[in-house]
Amino acid sequence: MGWPSFHCYWDCKSGLHFCLTGARGINAKAHSGDITTTTHIILPEVQGTSAGERLLLQALWAKATINGVFVGRNTTILLNVKAANFLLMGFKDITNKGEHLFKNEDALDPEWLPKNLPYRESQHKFIANCITPLLQGRNGRNCIISGAPGIGKTAAVKLVLKDLEENPDVNAPDIAVLYVNCWQNNSTYKIFAELCEQLGYKFTQNKNTEDLFKIVQNIVNKKSAVFAFDEVDKVEDVNFLYNIFTDILKKTILMITNYPQWYTEVDARIRSRLLPERIDFKQYNREELAGILKNRMEYAFIQGIWDDAAFNLIVDKVAPTGDIRMGLYLLRESGLAADEQSAKKITVEYAKCALSKVSDFSIKPESELSVDAKDILELIKSQGGKIGDLFRLYQEQGGVVTYKTFQRRVEELSEGGFIDAKKVVGGKDGTTTILSGKNKSLDEF
Ligand SMILES: Nc1ncnc2c1ncn2[C@@H]1O[C@H](COP(=O)(O)OP(=O)(O)OP(=O)(O)O)[C@@H](O)[C@H]1O
Ligand SMILES: [Mg+2]
Repeated sequence: MGWPSFHCYWDCKSGLHFCLTGARGINAKAHSGDITTTTHIILPEVQGTSAGERLLLQALWAKATINGVFVGRNTTILLNVKAANFLLMGFKDITNKGEHLFKNEDALDPEWLPKNLPYRESQHKFIANCITPLLQGRNGRNCIISGAPGIGKTAAVKLVLKDLEENPDVNAPDIAVLYVNCWQNNSTYKIFAELCEQLGYKFTQNKNTEDLFKIVQNIVNKKSAVFAFDEVDKVEDVNFLYNIFTDILKKTILMITNYPQWYTEVDARIRSRLLPERIDFKQYNREELAGILKNRMEYAFIQGIWDDAAFNLIVDKVAPTGDIRMGLYLLRESGLAADEQSAKKITVEYAKCALSKVSDFSIKPESELSVDAKDILELIKSQGGKIGDLFRLYQEQGGVVTYKTFQRRVEELSEGGFIDAKKVVGGKDGTTTILSGKNKSLDEF
């Protein structure tokens, strides 16, 4: 086994995370534990996956002779000796290999926004049309955007919003462009606090929900606004929709969800007002999927290093669900597997290696989870077991959410592919649910 390589990603709430990739196994896990528990990292101005990675690598390179403390440009990284040695080894490993396979690994990040979305032109237009009345000084239309995971809903909405921000119509009224992920911000209070932040109002502490909404209202009613609420079904109360609908004068509300039936259960007083348009994103067919992945591949990899047969293997795997995010994951894992062996081509062997790791893939990115969901995920990954036992442990460790909320989070984590959950009927405890991290077998518990 070669030295494990690593990459890091930046999460604005909890800082820089290390992710070990490449060689896997006991060694890599042990090192990963060392690094995450003993490493303090402050990278104040870094945004996005590989900027963080590059800075870290630069810092490591610049101070390659010092074990223990690294201080780079704008960067303070404190590592214990073992972790430092490990990272240096990982770094040397990266510099020796890989450079010639990846041209721009960022392009395989699911958050990376392409310049346009082939095969989604009509949906793009439909969403843009909901906003057009705002440009004419009128009230906009609302829309529910639905479809399976990884088929371009968020990307389509973000592209429309980006267009709006980057190409403002000078003759049209000013429009505030607001995007909220409701998995992270899963209550009316959190949504309003987030909207305040995005509108440039930072003093949200000690303010209640009503105060926060007044601030939003004051700012936004001087212009008009597009509100995009992604993963909207994850929100626990929908009062924000009512407030925005009744008290914001000119707006378009976009609601994105995997579960369009969610709306049928929304409070009737909201449904009778919002009257949204609906657009359903259909799954990509094999040809479309292959076209999209090929396009991404061209951004991410040096030309000509992919064997057609290896690429086709990945397309075959992804075609039944059409989940581009899974396709991107497999492209990256194949590249990393080839890297590890200093291969010059990505062949079927490496694609198969990526496919063997497909159980590590979670449908949703972990960075989108709310703080309490992340805590519960960590607990399940480290322990696993019966849901009741895990909840007791969670409480003992200072967890604050109620059992009902705990159950809801567990359902979300299972839906998002972060954990495995198996219902067991008629055991000695009656019916219970057994939970485990993705790599563990449920039979272990
Ligand atoms: N037509 C397309 N062209 C290029 N890239 C695409 C296309 N459709 C989806 N993608 C890419 O696939 C990835 C997943 O898309 P996106 O995040 O929009 O999925 P989603 O439908 O919002 O899924 P979820 O419901 O899980 O949130 C993104 O990296 C996106 O850029
Ligand atoms: Mg999405």
